[in-house]
Amino acid sequence: MSGIFISFEGIDQSGKSTQAKLLFDHLQERGYEVVFTYEPGDTELGQEIRRLVLERKSQGEIDATAEMFLFSADRVQHVNELIRPSLDAGKVVISDRYVDSTLAYQGYGRGLNLDDLRMVQNVATGGLKPDITIWIDVDLQTVQKRELPLFSDRIESEDRGGERTFFQRVRQGFKEACQSEPNRIFRVDGTRSISAVFKDVKKVVVNQISVRDLYKINLKDWVFSTIEKVEKGTAWNYAWQETYFELGGKSKESGRKFSPMNGTETLYRLGRIKGSRKPFRNPELKEIWNCSTNGAYAILALEYILEKPDISRSELWTKIQERIRSELGEEPANFNQGAPTVAYKLWHLGLIVHDK
Ligand code: ADP
Ligand code: TYD
Repeated sequence: MSGIFISFEGIDQSGKSTQAKLLFDHLQERGYEVVFTYEPGDTELGQEIRRLVLERKSQGEIDATAEMFLFSADRVQHVNELIRPSLDAGKVVISDRYVDSTLAYQGYGRGLNLDDLRMVQNVATGGLKPDITIWIDVDLQTVQKRELPLFSDRIESEDRGGERTFFQRVRQGFKEACQSEPNRIFRVDGTRSISAVFKDVKKVVVNQISVRDLYKINLKDWVFSTIEKVEKGTAWNYAWQETYFELGGKSKESGRKFSPMNGTETLYRLGRIKGSRKPFRNPELKEIWNCSTNGAYAILALEYILEKPDISRSELWTKIQERIRSELGEEPANFNQGAPTVAYKLWHLGLIVHDK
């Protein structure tokens, strides 16, 4: 499967459909073949299931487990009829909701057993997970201020007017999913303007597409060929991009600024990459941060990797986040994970200088 699967998640009215459509337009303009889809309902069978499960007249009549199987049945059809074939054809698939909705709504919202749900989801999807999930997070007060649609569906009307504890549980479900899969699920603060939210959505996607490329392209060739060009006078970003295309990279996003590129540049400038002619230097974190936030992420990653070489990527990311918070007083963003990833990979390739 060579395409890219992106899902959007969030509570009702969080603004995820708005963001998903903006991303669809953006990627299409940049030359990607993109398919926009949604759950429940984007197949012929799905339309019938959607009517069964969301129409108001069935309010209160659907058992929670039955509801879960209806959403799951829709998903089986959706995956096999539309998502997999599109990914096999190399397209980008953007889905408005996917498995995390079932975990959050039927699991946390309705209280069904989470392990059972995961098992059913695994069967329903044949194990297909999104490459990138964007969770548009908003609090309940923000949602209540937004205009409600004239006709809301059965689940949307859940405890309307009350404390909305159902949606609080659903939100908690997304939060816990995000914490347990930080390399797949990215939280974006959805309480701001549509354009401010979209800026972050783009950052996440551009960075994740480029992180995927780090796994597809020979990183050693990429880095050394870039350094060679830089030492002959080409600017780092041009050298990085040129090498990328030479090595068969196809992403339209690669020429833009992104965290692996900036992180690697900092490692090089500080003399941390083997064979680089620059002197090894160890400046203050704050000093690096002021030059390049991604550089700071990459350098911090190395520090922890050298301390504990078998550290996992998620443990590494947690430690970096804590440090950025405590030492720099900044809130780390998940879309900066590309820089630590490149440091991690370079270390495992044996390309890092680590003698003091
Ligand atoms: P969802 O798909 O999560 O239910 P929508 O994208 O359909 O949400 O948005 C729900 C409503 O909120 C729509 O009326 C939309 O125009 C509005 N909306 C979306 N994003 C924002 C935002 N960032 N700020 C204010 N209103 C928004
Ligand atoms: P929809 O009209 O698509 O609303 P939204 O714009 O909020 O996505 O309605 C989908 C509703 O179905 C929404 O309330 C969430 C719910 N849902 C589940 O409870 N479980 C699921 O697995 C899915 C896919 C959706």
